Amino acid sequence: MLSKKRILCVVGTRPEAIKMAPVILALKDTSWAQVRILATAQHRELLDQVLALFGIKPDIDLNIMQSNQSLAELTGRLAIALQDIMVNEKPDMVLAQGDTTTVMMTALICFYRQVPFGHVEAGLRTGNRLFPFPEEANRVITGYLSHLHFAPTETARVNLLKEGVSDDSIIVTGNTVIDSLFLTIRKPVPLDLGLDKTKRLILVTAHRRENFGSPFREICRAIRELAERNPDIQFLYPLHPNPNITDVAQEILSGHSRIVLCEPLNYAEFVSAMNQAYILLTDSGGIQEEAPALAKPVLVLRDETERPEAVEAGVVNLVGPNYERIITATERLLNDEKSYREMARGVTPYGDGHAAERIIKAMQKFFTGRPAA
Ligand code: UD1
Ligand code: UDP
Repeated sequence: MLSKKRILCVVGTRPEAIKMAPVILALKDTSWAQVRILATAQHRELLDQVLALFGIKPDIDLNIMQSNQSLAELTGRLAIALQDIMVNEKPDMVLAQGDTTTVMMTALICFYRQVPFGHVEAGLRTGNRLFPFPEEANRVITGYLSHLHFAPTETARVNLLKEGVSDDSIIVTGNTVIDSLFLTIRKPVPLDLGLDKTKRLILVTAHRRENFGSPFREICRAIRELAERNPDIQFLYPLHPNPNITDVAQEILSGHSRIVLCEPLNYAEFVSAMNQAYILLTDSGGIQEEAPALAKPVLVLRDETERPEAVEAGVVNLVGPNYERIITATERLLNDEKSYREMARGVTPYGDGHAAERIIKAMQKFFTGRPAA
């Protein structure tokens, strides 16, 4: 029987909470884990929305977010705060998911304190240090410092092996986002946004730092042009609260009757919106994983992706933050049924909904030296 282990689960932003929720809930069901939850609150409202939905209450909340925060300020504030937490909490293992500043700094401070760090969603790479920025560098640094690498796919495992990570420390688990998606979709919620059910819905999200400025303006101009040219479609765009996004989106997209701009939706509402959508336009990472599982074509507003599996399966298409390509690819899907059907196939390269279970078994093995029964 495994003695109690103190497991500190760290969450900072919306996608981290969505992807850590199944792990936290499954760990709480074990007899051996004493689960502690640390919210850095790198995101405030977006994080709180997800934690409330999954009924997760942080034990510690650093409330670190500041409006329009710079990477350096965020990194500095996290370093000092996380050092104090590690000293007080004395965890046996720390877990975090993904490639945000919260995750990279958590891995670094664990290294300074010599605490084992388990990386959920390990091994994603574009191979280009500048795209996505700063996440590609965050992932590489985090990977270098991790003791356990929970890789969502075989491709991610191979990426880690190429960087010299030992095979014994990599466990291919599937992506926990599919666990969350399946948990959430079981309880559908209504979407009360006044959408016109007779029009085909295009759901949009965008927030990447490398798209700030003229690439993001180009994305918005393409959306406006598509709405002008196609009277049978409507756009729903829940705006990310980053002011670099909100201000430009309001300037270019407001005042059109078939472009609905709204506050960020909670995860249950967003899953309903994905289910109702005909096409998704996004630069998000998580949506590239979720939408294919719901048989929805995704046009990615980026030139590169660390999630090649769905692109290879032909259900995700990279169009970049590029006016012409966004319009051409969207209109092809709207007007050519064969192209649409080829992309709307329901492919799930990212998991089967049991990733959290595999993570917990691997942690047990790490602590006991034996595979979990
Ligand atoms: C961050 C992550 C990115 C991740 C994304 C998920 C970094 C560097 N970036 O990007 O990898 O894909 O989260 O959404 O780690 N804001 C609010 N309320 C919120 C959240 C954000 O007002 O609940 C505003 C604030 O002004 C904040 C700004 O958005 O300063 C930027 O937040 P930040 O976490 O630095 O970057 P994101 O672009 O959200
Ligand atoms: N999402 C949400 N509400 C929204 C927009 C997105 O709950 O209004 C979910 C979405 O389903 C996905 C995650 O948020 O699981 C993606 O987060 P984001 O785009 O902020 O970050 P990324 O995935 O790019 O890191």
